[in-house]
Amino acid sequence: MSDIQKDKILILDFGSQYTQLIARRIREIGVYSELISCDVSSDFVKDFNPKGIILSGGPDSVTDVDSARVDKEIFDLNIPILGICYGMQIMAVQLGGEAKSANKHEYGFAKINVLSDESKLLSFLNENHSQDNKSLDVWMSHGIEVSSVPSGFDLIASSDNCSIAVMENPEKNFFGLQFHPEVTHTLEGKKILERFVSLCGCQKEWHLKNIIANIVSKLKSQIGSNNVLLGLSGGVDSSVVAALLHQAVGNQLTCIFVDNGLLRLNEGDQVMQTFSKNMGLNLFRVNAHEKFYSELSNEFDPERKRKIIGKCFIEVFEEQAKKFEDIKFLAQGTIYPDVIESAGSKTGKAKVIKSHHNVGGLPDDLNFELVEPLRDLFKDEVRNIGIELGIPYEMLFRHPFPGPGLGVRILGEVKKEFTDILRSADNIFMEELYNENLYDKVNQAFAVFLPIKSVGVTGDERRYEYVIALRAVETIDFMTARWARLPYEFLDHVSNRIINEIPRISRVVYDVSGKPPATIEWE
Ligand code: XMP
Repeated sequence: MSDIQKDKILILDFGSQYTQLIARRIREIGVYSELISCDVSSDFVKDFNPKGIILSGGPDSVTDVDSARVDKEIFDLNIPILGICYGMQIMAVQLGGEAKSANKHEYGFAKINVLSDESKLLSFLNENHSQDNKSLDVWMSHGIEVSSVPSGFDLIASSDNCSIAVMENPEKNFFGLQFHPEVTHTLEGKKILERFVSLCGCQKEWHLKNIIANIVSKLKSQIGSNNVLLGLSGGVDSSVVAALLHQAVGNQLTCIFVDNGLLRLNEGDQVMQTFSKNMGLNLFRVNAHEKFYSELSNEFDPERKRKIIGKCFIEVFEEQAKKFEDIKFLAQGTIYPDVIESAGSKTGKAKVIKSHHNVGGLPDDLNFELVEPLRDLFKDEVRNIGIELGIPYEMLFRHPFPGPGLGVRILGEVKKEFTDILRSADNIFMEELYNENLYDKVNQAFAVFLPIKSVGVTGDERRYEYVIALRAVETIDFMTARWARLPYEFLDHVSNRIINEIPRISRVVYDVSGKPPATIEWE
């Protein structure tokens, strides 16, 4: 089998919010790419042996004395380099050119005029545009610009506010773009990246069928005739790991699904149906409701509740794992952003974005060797593999669901009675979002149970019952979020259904808080 990671692009990360996007775009083009902190040595790069290097954007000002630089010997490795935004500026400065504060800061759309017909990187423009109308709509975000190009470089394009928007050294295949080709607002951005990858001489081997075949073959040789255990939660990552392992080692895989009593309506049954009945996996469902409810009783503090849920999960999993003898490997659904985000960097330039609340992190002393088949993959790649392997679309494209489940959506003490009420209300909300084609228009939606009572009247009867809050948000990265402007008529209908169909609810409210200052979850 061909090595689908042989021709690869290395991205040196200066901390731009778009760096992961660059890697994803290169992979979409069909070439494997990895991201690494900008402070790696040229020896590291040589050993990594990329066909091309991309220097990302970043928050530093290249004019500051202590701003980030690359190891200068990287420029002597005879590897094509593309510098984007800050990456272009350091390329200019480190190779003898100059940069200065821009007269006008440029954020957003800009039109650049291509001044040269000789550009290697923008050669596709010669095919598409008439001689005197060579411009590109691009996305800029910078306050500093290159003011003089290093020797050997040509000026290729300018905008009204940025006289050196594209530069290149055709002999060395070094290219600098002041704008961001990786964002979709730069209309021909993908073509530019495609052209760079082709100038690097990369074969396009990184596509779904190859990726799956490659992972399966690696799993086979890693696991051999041994047995492997997986904690299956029904979430995207563990589900795709299960499907891949099943394909690679069949019955040598055993999956444990811990049903903690904090799942959504019918979720446990769906997991069993998909993986056990339809796909034929060795899957054991452990009903641990009582343990979770009893350990959570009398606990009101959100962080302590999270810890209890995490600890219970580990205890249940460990106890179950002991029942299966001869298991050498433990599989985990670690994906590439987890790897990047926990790696950080020596200088701290590529910031650790978020160390996430991770429930279900298992202790090291379980005495298993780890198998992590998704370590190199982005979430969208994982989802696409899932589709290819027959996991239902709704499972793969569901809104995120937190590890502690309904445990953080019942404010204060968790009781079975409350989980039942919340499950029903949440289910009505989801059903209606699907019915009205609104589910995919919001990024996360759910119901929250408030353990306070309010007065209501249904028919001639007075009610004194609990409150449900509905939450729906629009967000890109879940770090900030805007409350979703769902139609009033829709909210009215959901509220009526919840109050009419669930006798223990007398009132429904809609959460109109953004993040910040609120968080997405209520606890
Ligand atoms: P917050 O509430 O921090 O949520 O604005 C941001 C995103 O993270 C999810 N979330 C969690 N996921 N364990 C998880 O696995 C947790 O403890 C947890 N808390 C929040 C949340 O659902 C949202 O998508």
